[in-house]
Amino acid sequence: MIITIDGPAAAGKGTLAAALSKHYRLAYFDTGMIYRAVGLEMVLSGFCVEDEEKALETAKKMTFERMMELSAHKDFRSDIGGQAASKVSAIGSVRQALLKMQQDFSLSPTFADGTPANGAVYDGRDTGTVVCPNADIKFFVTASLEVRAMRRFKEFVAKGIETTYEKVLEDMLARDKRDSERAAAPLKPAKDAIIVDTSEMDEQTEIQTVIDIIEQKIFSTKKL
Ligand code: C5P
Repeated sequence: MIITIDGPAAAGKGTLAAALSKHYRLAYFDTGMIYRAVGLEMVLSGFCVEDEEKALETAKKMTFERMMELSAHKDFRSDIGGQAASKVSAIGSVRQALLKMQQDFSLSPTFADGTPANGAVYDGRDTGTVVCPNADIKFFVTASLEVRAMRRFKEFVAKGIETTYEKVLEDMLARDKRDSERAAAPLKPAKDAIIVDTSEMDEQTEIQTVIDIIEQKIFSTKKL
């Protein structure tokens, strides 16, 4: 079973993907990590993140091992990493260079320890539209800008990252705009995606809502 979950930042995709991975024994691919890795590598190398040639070179050299190393860096999950990811991911050739690695994951999905999984759950912006257009079930998870900014602000505070709600809101607005207006794979729901608005849902409600939809849509029609 392949499930895709797309949507804007802090909409609740990661929480949901992790829960579905556990519930259905699916390997989890957080596709934002590869764009964060390429973006942060550019920043650490002192390159301008909008330099297409350098970004393509960096994307072509990116390996799973280097991505894992970079994921431990303090700026990987910060706004510096998020903005850099958003900028490199707007470059069409960079997306193309990173596509096969994402698609290959669905051919024989495994957990981190090498155990085979029952399938994969992808989390990103274009996983239902570009990466896995034939996924068994697609979700587009969203929430209002203010709710998402407040969630991200609280996450930063909990991690001891100094910022303000206004700054997080401003950065999120800029990232949403860039992600949805770019020419290459803009953020939008796949035609066959199910939209889930989590603005007024807590984590448990979100997870249960989606599991109920999966049970109804997939298992009741015995598609698998
Ligand atoms: O999901 P996350 O916030 O980690 O993603 C970081 C950035 O990577 C996003 O803002 C987006 O610009 C980019 N991204 C993308 N396509 C994906 C996943 C992430 O363009 N499939």
